[in-house]
Amino acid sequence: MKSEIAYKFSEDNVIKINAWKKKFPNEHAKSSIIYVLHICQKEKGFITEEHMKATAEILGIDFIDVYEIATFYSMFETENVGKNVISICTNISCMLRGSDDLVSYAEKKLGIKIGDSSDNIFLKDERECLAACCGAPMMQVNHKYYENVTIELLDEIIGTLKDEK
Ligand code: FES
Repeated sequence: MKSEIAYKFSEDNVIKINAWKKKFPNEHAKSSIIYVLHICQKEKGFITEEHMKATAEILGIDFIDVYEIATFYSMFETENVGKNVISICTNISCMLRGSDDLVSYAEKKLGIKIGDSSDNIFLKDERECLAACCGAPMMQVNHKYYENVTIELLDEIIGTLKDEK
């Protein structure tokens, strides 16, 4: 992970964060980490080391506490993944209902392998269960869930994202 220039929250965000912090007793400042990291990610599309340092500073906690959260949850990106991210779940329920075919189709359509990007679309590492097994096979596109995904739907979504530019 590369370090970027020092980061400062905007005045608006400082107000939002301070209001959020008041929901928890001071000794539970860590309870605000996810909220603050969402703010960071919303600004840039991913979380940098400087975001994590600024989060630790504004919450009055250790950097490692922020780092552990930012790197644990798949909803947070710690690399620049670009504007559009597709994550196809390949865990057991989705695999049994055809997720491997979806992955193969996406790779072929985009001309890349999982973990690469093309046409402003990043095909993210295969996901473990994304907790929507009842709608298998499913995928996440820019943090939105799609269930009972077919090749046709995947094709349509890739086409829409490509056209967005
Ligand atoms: S196995 Fe894909 S959502 Fe659970």
